Amino acid sequence: MDATPITTPDPTTQALLATRPTLKMDAHDGLCLEGVPLTAIAEQAGTPCWITGLDTLRHRAQTLKNAFATAGLTPSIHFAMKANDQQITLQTLGELRLGVDVVSGGELRRARHAGIPAAHIVFSGVGKTDAELDLALTESIAQINVESAEELTRLSNRAQTLGRPINVVLRVNPDVDAATHEKISTGRAGDKFGIALSAIPELYAHAATLPGITPIGLAVHIGSQIQSPAPFRIAYAKIATLVQTLRAQGQTVKTVDCGGGIGIRYRDEIPLPPEAWAATIREAFGTLDLHLAIEPGRWLTAESGLLLSRVIDRKAGFGGEADIIILDAAMNDLARPSLYDSWHGIVPLAAHHAHAPTESQGVVGPICESSDQFSTGRMLPRLHPNDLVAFLDTGAYGAVMSSTYNSRPLLAQVAVDQGRWAITRPAQPIDALWAQETQPDWT
Ligand code: LLP
Repeated sequence: MDATPITTPDPTTQALLATRPTLKMDAHDGLCLEGVPLTAIAEQAGTPCWITGLDTLRHRAQTLKNAFATAGLTPSIHFAMKANDQQITLQTLGELRLGVDVVSGGELRRARHAGIPAAHIVFSGVGKTDAELDLALTESIAQINVESAEELTRLSNRAQTLGRPINVVLRVNPDVDAATHEKISTGRAGDKFGIALSAIPELYAHAATLPGITPIGLAVHIGSQIQSPAPFRIAYAKIATLVQTLRAQGQTVKTVDCGGGIGIRYRDEIPLPPEAWAATIREAFGTLDLHLAIEPGRWLTAESGLLLSRVIDRKAGFGGEADIIILDAAMNDLARPSLYDSWHGIVPLAAHHAHAPTESQGVVGPICESSDQFSTGRMLPRLHPNDLVAFLDTGAYGAVMSSTYNSRPLLAQVAVDQGRWAITRPAQPIDALWAQETQPDWT
């Protein structure tokens, strides 16, 4: 399924803030995150810049834990750090005893650097190189989620060569449509991920005979920004049946990794509450005496992040077209709108804009591509050069997906925590963009 065309009016600033408790519009200071006026940060740190609200993040993590506790479950939570790999994010979640799900050697190193214990790390991903497997083995991480028969053989060889045994789970492709955006659907038979369900019994039995590895269970992840319990329910039911089939064959199945994928409200979606996700997991696995694990990314961090940006110019529409607001943030910074037609709330920072009349305006970045467009027509107060805005919910798949296209350096990152703030990474110096380029001696 592709992005659903938008037919409802844009939510107002008030409506957007009503569901984001740590963002408030102060009559004097304008938009504040966790009590910190964002205009002050924009002035001092420069724009565009990324903001992370640490208390927002803690609150999300605690809410998720509580939701599972209410369902009588205490799964291991492995944050899918592809959503947000900042050290401060990993440290904050690590302090709450969350582990991480990594998908590359780079992520594994980052997680270790942030102090995440190896025993709290699982490694997913459809293509892990030998070097990455070796790293995981020498670090003695908790588990590798294997995605193919070929990977299983390679991993067994590497584990034997290094003398480092490892627990593995097999990632199942359950052939379920997650009813989400085409580009973030991962559990259908044609998708590149996981092992066909029908192949699992034989492969699991084979894995149990291979040296260096111990199969301990199954994993499944069907997609991202999922709004309904139905695809989860179907996928988990298939996995539960598979657990029973494997046990009936005499195999040991101790754990199921239920993946991530739970969606959030960006615009006016009605997201699946985490309690409902937990209930779906309990319904499928509650009586099977399993250790359960989950790998959420977006749900934990999206709301903790903002992208601050300044209006460069206002370009008058012609022939009845809406005016266009040109921002200093672009598709190289926040890629989601250009990649998936994603909708992110845009809230002006100034208090006087909060109740100003709105009009439809195009919102674009300065990059030389038509896809560098955040919105073709967004209901916003009339914005002018130097006005500041915040893009909402950019804490997942925001900074991590940035590039330096058009020689635009990576942005500064700022952490906010209950009234305090600090720059946690300065903007990339411009000359870092070419500092490592060399000229061949024959030029
Ligand atoms: N586990 C695995 C194996 C995954 O591939 C993913 C995400 C997750 C967990 C976390 O899923 P989440 O809870 O965040 O939905 N760039 C896209 C999203 C790509 C998701 C990739 N896999 C976006 O901006 O929407």
